[in-house]
Amino acid sequence: MSSDSSNTIESVLQEQRVFMPADEIANKASIGSLSEYKHLAELAKSDPDKFWGDAARKELHWFEPFNKVLDWSNPPFATWFQGGKMNLSYNCLDRHLNSSKADKEALIWEGEPGDVRRFTYRELYVEVCKTANALKAIGIKKGDLVALYMPMVPEAAIAMLACARIGAPHSVVFGGFSAEALRDRLIDGEAKAVITADGGFRKDKAVLLKPSVDSALEGNACPSVDSVIVVQRTNENVNMKSNRDYWWHELISPQSAECNAEPMESEDRLFVLYTSGSTGKPKGVVHTTAGYNLWTHLTFKWIFDIRDEDVYWCTADVGWITGHSYIIYGPLSNGATTVMYEGAPRPSNPGAFWELIQKHKISIFYTAPTAIRAFMKSGRTVPDQYDMTSLRLLGTVGEPINPEAWIWYKDVIGGGRCPIVDTWWQTETGGVMISPLPGATPTKPGSATLPLPGIEADVVDAEGKSVEAGEGGYLVVRRPWPGMMRTVHGNPQRFRESYWEYIKPVDGKHIYFAGDGARRDADGYFWVMGRVDDVINVSGHRLGTMEIESALVSHPAVSEAAVVGRPDELKGEAIVAFVTLESGRNFDNALINDLKVHVALEIGAIARPEEIKSSDALPKTRSGKIMRRILRALASGEEVSGDTSTLEDRTVLDKLRA
Ligand code: WTA
Repeated sequence: MSSDSSNTIESVLQEQRVFMPADEIANKASIGSLSEYKHLAELAKSDPDKFWGDAARKELHWFEPFNKVLDWSNPPFATWFQGGKMNLSYNCLDRHLNSSKADKEALIWEGEPGDVRRFTYRELYVEVCKTANALKAIGIKKGDLVALYMPMVPEAAIAMLACARIGAPHSVVFGGFSAEALRDRLIDGEAKAVITADGGFRKDKAVLLKPSVDSALEGNACPSVDSVIVVQRTNENVNMKSNRDYWWHELISPQSAECNAEPMESEDRLFVLYTSGSTGKPKGVVHTTAGYNLWTHLTFKWIFDIRDEDVYWCTADVGWITGHSYIIYGPLSNGATTVMYEGAPRPSNPGAFWELIQKHKISIFYTAPTAIRAFMKSGRTVPDQYDMTSLRLLGTVGEPINPEAWIWYKDVIGGGRCPIVDTWWQTETGGVMISPLPGATPTKPGSATLPLPGIEADVVDAEGKSVEAGEGGYLVVRRPWPGMMRTVHGNPQRFRESYWEYIKPVDGKHIYFAGDGARRDADGYFWVMGRVDDVINVSGHRLGTMEIESALVSHPAVSEAAVVGRPDELKGEAIVAFVTLESGRNFDNALINDLKVHVALEIGAIARPEEIKSSDALPKTRSGKIMRRILRALASGEEVSGDTSTLEDRTVLDKLRA
């Protein structure tokens, strides 16, 4: 990674600045000092069952109490809060209706063309109940998987909560994924229904979605799918297949506004969300009801220091875990006001984000470093035109943030007064794991600082031994936590091997590892260095090199492909592909373009390679393994250093250099 876009060892070790929590924040915060944080962390460590058990009883509503906090007798398969019954939709809606929150705004939604919809908790409750009844009416039962392939419209949030209400796990597929990618996920999850929209607005135009659903389902490719519900958003013409497709508004308006929340077992499946790993197809990460609810609830409360009057906005898409945990479930479980935005900054409106902050008096703002770097590049003129004095807290997520971007964010967006929470976590962890607490933790630009109470994070070597301060290693977690993923859908072996046994358990003690490298400084602060596996992080989006490689080799012109990440000032990493062609094929601009389009069609536009290079062979070891280290160096224009003696054919290197 380049020094200007990430935490290189040099920049990290040179970073000396420390920012203390402001009194104004600390005085009111739920965790208001470093000693309070340490006390909580100590309590959680010395008696985790009591710590989590007390939190679960205090923070959540239970239909039936649990009788065991954690069962870790069969690692890595954990059960949390056994015997308990609860419902996440109840915790996000019903329980607020008997309080002053009933008429508080739960959701403020802004469409890209500027249309606004607002829902109080009571209004959101009604919409969710009607939708839940509609799902039942088309035959969806507890345990049936419902896929969502949607733009950022309120119906996406409503549909997720409706699924949770009736106990139908959801599988949200990011609306930017292709029909192919959608089909794979529908088949893998055996989805019973798909909820989609005619389309959504993106960068000033209507982008269609329904045709991709039609194409994913074509020829009975997904036999489990019986029905498709279509939200009318853009009013474009779309095909509706009789006996399969229903308009959302027609299906939902006649439904009753009461629907009891299904009492769910703590470990009942809440959702599946697909994410890329280093090998094979994307994995369906499984999260379950109670642990996920507790983890998103607690982390949201701790990290965003939420107050009743706050207006909170997370810019993620609901198709990613950040959207699940911190647009919908965490905020609503806490009775907060959450903002959802359909659009994005674009040439016609580069100040779109700042305009929204000004308009809705947003006080807490959570976005990705890639966005901050893009804004930083175009300077402060645009943000300076807006009144952002409502802001009091800023967050980042998705990739390492470089100290320059951190400082810019604090000064220009936060007016110098807002603390920054750099939150490290993953789809697999359900919620944030390492982050400053705004009222307690002194921050250092570029560091996610300290693990949350109850999280035993560490940096270790390949044997699982802690490394010395300042040394690099694997970022791991030594104990289970409530929000942890429970398994890989349909593949428990993969869950075991890739996460909890990647580092061999010593004395039967399992350690969780999901692919990041990090170092800890002398104060115990974590500096996340990025992925150490074959996952590329493009603008905060995770992509497996394998997926892109298989997309490339599925093109008739390509015989072999290898994909690597190249440091990119704005996106963090950019995708560079090396291909060898079938004989008789010409590597010209037309083919390059064709290959890029092909990858976009197979996976989605986010996976489109930035650059494609061709050579008559790829650098391989004698055992046939592609040496990505060499390709990475070549892609970023660096000298190929280190041992190249294992190369099968040394002339390949010269040819590639040429
Ligand atoms: C990266 C997104 C550095 C990391 C919530 C992780 C980060 C991957 C940070 C997970 C951060 C996320 N600092 N790196 N604050 N937050 N990452 O599953 O590489 O889409 O493994 O979850 O993003 O991406 P995912």
